Amino acid sequence: MLTPEIDTFIMRMPKVEMHLHLEGTIMPGTLLELAQRNGVELPARDIVGVEQLFRYRNFAEFLTVYMALVRAIRSGEDFERLAYEAGTMLARQQVRYAEVMLSPMQHLNRVDLHEAIAGTAAGFQRVERETGLVVRLGLDYGRQYGPELAWEVLEIAQQAMKHGVVAWSIGGNEIGHPPEPFAEVFAAAKAAGLRLMAHAGEVVGPASVWGAVDALQSERLGHGIRSIDDANLVTYLSQRGVVLDICPSSNLWTGAARSWEAHPLRQLFDAGVPVTLNTDDPTFFHTTLIDEYRIAVRQFGFDVDDLCTLVLNGVRASFLPLHEQEPLLRRIEDELIALRQELGV
Ligand code: ADE
Ligand code: ZN
Repeated sequence: MLTPEIDTFIMRMPKVEMHLHLEGTIMPGTLLELAQRNGVELPARDIVGVEQLFRYRNFAEFLTVYMALVRAIRSGEDFERLAYEAGTMLARQQVRYAEVMLSPMQHLNRVDLHEAIAGTAAGFQRVERETGLVVRLGLDYGRQYGPELAWEVLEIAQQAMKHGVVAWSIGGNEIGHPPEPFAEVFAAAKAAGLRLMAHAGEVVGPASVWGAVDALQSERLGHGIRSIDDANLVTYLSQRGVVLDICPSSNLWTGAARSWEAHPLRQLFDAGVPVTLNTDDPTFFHTTLIDEYRIAVRQFGFDVDDLCTLVLNGVRASFLPLHEQEPLLRRIEDELIALRQELGV
């Protein structure tokens, strides 16, 4: 039950956000302003109108809206503003560490990707100076563009490691775009020192998840909720410690899960799969990380121990080198213990 004490605990507890698309954090007012300044037509004239755009009947419709709206973001400065606003929003929710993806193919031929990444890094560095929030970046390649074009983007990712890019990922339309053709690109990303992530098992079944772990050697999976349809896969994920970055509200809004009752978060957690809790695209899914923790309690019956496990799973699954991950883990563990004592939860 979400008691007032547990709600206070959720608001104040130190958190990590492991699955977040920068473009998906854009505030309606910022979207409107950027579209006007950059001469990009939006099918809305004011904030109320923009808010109406974030509605979808299925995953394909969500992707169409996402790809259309992010066209309003045009310059390194725009990315710096988005990153600063996203970082401030995270820090206010007591997020201590975040891994944030950019969707490079949505911007190709419109924005210089080097500038976009440098701007993003500058925005998050300003937040780090002001609040202490640490952010690392990943590039999330749109799988529908096919593996051939990915090489050019991977080259940019490698050059951007100096700006805090640590991860390579595929996202976008999972239907009809299986992981296997990306195996060579993923191997090259790994050889370059990037860590590996893939959206899998969001709207396609276990075959997509098996492909992401076998063919791509993906260390973490975005969503992975359809793994629940294959008992062998659930056992595999739990024994190998393959992490699922789960985003409950996202799954409801895109129709990836039909209802809270049909969402497998609780079963995957109980089966020992290391899961983390995230927002994916908070503006597009009308949520915040704090709300996702409330949902974990209200809809999935998580208790305070479970909430702490979700946070600590995230820290352990992070793509930080061990010498940075270990002190963060200790600090967050200490903070959680002190807060539980203070609030008596
Ligand atoms: N890009 C932004 N959000 C996404 C999601 N939920 N799945 C795949 N690609 C995405
Ligand atoms: Zn995602």
